[in-house]
Amino acid sequence: MNPSALPVYRHIANALTARLDSGEFPPGSRLPAVRALAAEFGVNTLTALAAYRYLEQQQRVLARPRAGYFAALPAAPSSPGTAAPLPSAAALVDVSSRMSTLLQLGDERIHTQLHMAEAAASLYPAAELARRLQLTLTRQPELIGAHLPAGEQRRLLAALVRLGHERGLALDEGGILLTHGITEGISLALRHLTRPGDTVAVETPVYFGLLQTLEGLGLKALEIPCTPEAGLSLEALEFALHHGPAVKCLVCVPNFQNPTGALMPDDNKKRLLALARKHGVTIIEDDVFGDLHYGNGRPTPLKAWDRDGDVIYCASFTKSFAPSFRLGWLAAGRHHGALARLCASSTLVSSPLLQVVLADVLDSGDYARISQRLRLQLAAQMTATADAVLQHFPRGTRVRRPQGGVVLWVECPETVDSTRLLQRALAEGISFAPGVAFSAAPRFGHCLRINCGQPFTPALAAAIARLGQLALGN
Ligand SMILES: Cc1ncc(COP(=O)(O)O)c(C=O)c1O
Repeated sequence: MNPSALPVYRHIANALTARLDSGEFPPGSRLPAVRALAAEFGVNTLTALAAYRYLEQQQRVLARPRAGYFAALPAAPSSPGTAAPLPSAAALVDVSSRMSTLLQLGDERIHTQLHMAEAAASLYPAAELARRLQLTLTRQPELIGAHLPAGEQRRLLAALVRLGHERGLALDEGGILLTHGITEGISLALRHLTRPGDTVAVETPVYFGLLQTLEGLGLKALEIPCTPEAGLSLEALEFALHHGPAVKCLVCVPNFQNPTGALMPDDNKKRLLALARKHGVTIIEDDVFGDLHYGNGRPTPLKAWDRDGDVIYCASFTKSFAPSFRLGWLAAGRHHGALARLCASSTLVSSPLLQVVLADVLDSGDYARISQRLRLQLAAQMTATADAVLQHFPRGTRVRRPQGGVVLWVECPETVDSTRLLQRALAEGISFAPGVAFSAAPRFGHCLRINCGQPFTPALAAAIARLGQLALGN
């Protein structure tokens, strides 16, 4: 079409497109209000609105109800057919949507995905597990149509008791419950210990999935500072227990906390138990990363020193063995009966087939071998990732190398806004978890969590270098 024959709104859309292309409005940034746009081009608001609607159809802008128009991410040239807009980091400040928004960062157009807290799929023993599953089904096809036979159940529970003993836990078979990942275990424990409106102490920064769980149960989070050096601050917790609102329970991750990677020293673990006892606070211990220790010794769970039944211990195989199995377990001590009843109204039972395979890998010693291989790879990847971050990120960036787990917490100078950085990074196909996702309050805006669960390839090195450059110009 002859450009001079274009309607006025298309001229305005073209002018805006040029400004979007020039980077004047980076992806995610707010665009001029409709009125301001109309004034700028000397047209009425309907014409300005038509320009935005046209750009919306072209997927160059996003409309957010009551917030206005925002620059969209550029479409990836490799996937011309995909119409859905990519996630917008701005939504991450909203607790109820941050989890789903972060999950959307798994969009295949994002070629370097560093926002998750799990190892790359290629690091898990997929072929070996596929063979095991096939073998199990060939030998026991009845598992498809039956509950777990009692003998198999005892075998799995006995294996979990042995695993617990290796961690210093005194367990018995009747005190263990299988759950759908650790998430279900924590949720059951919270349902048992609290009522809607109650306050639960959590670490801050905190794994956003926990905030989501609390929100779903109508609970309030009391965020207690946690440092990469020593984990939960006992001084801050003690102060909060004395002066803050009544706390029903504490959820904490003493071993390789997410996102800081902190490992709580054993002395602090013992002091934490004494503090909880003094204030009558039950602790829900999340030990999802404990098996991913880089050094020789596995860190001891809090539960190992719990003489009074103050700890509900929750563990999982999702990070250390097979994410898709979703197999978790818990040892709740005196709370066992109540949790067993809640469990019956929740998952009822975990998959018999997967439980038999888990019993096999535990019995055969294969779990120990598989998790050892995984954590050696993770240790090397973490070192390479931390080195790259320190080399390329702005001066003053702090990283404390964790001793286990799959994530690296990066504290940039206060001038860096990691949500804005994420918008720029997404536009270049790189994701990470921005600091604001890890608190219900507007904190940690200068921090980011980078996944180190992926093999450190030249492409990954280049992506981290690029992130560093973007942070320098942020
Ligand atoms: C601290 C923490 N707890 C729990 C979970 C979820 O564990 P699961 O997959 O076993 O439910 C995660 C996942 O990232 C996590 O980081």
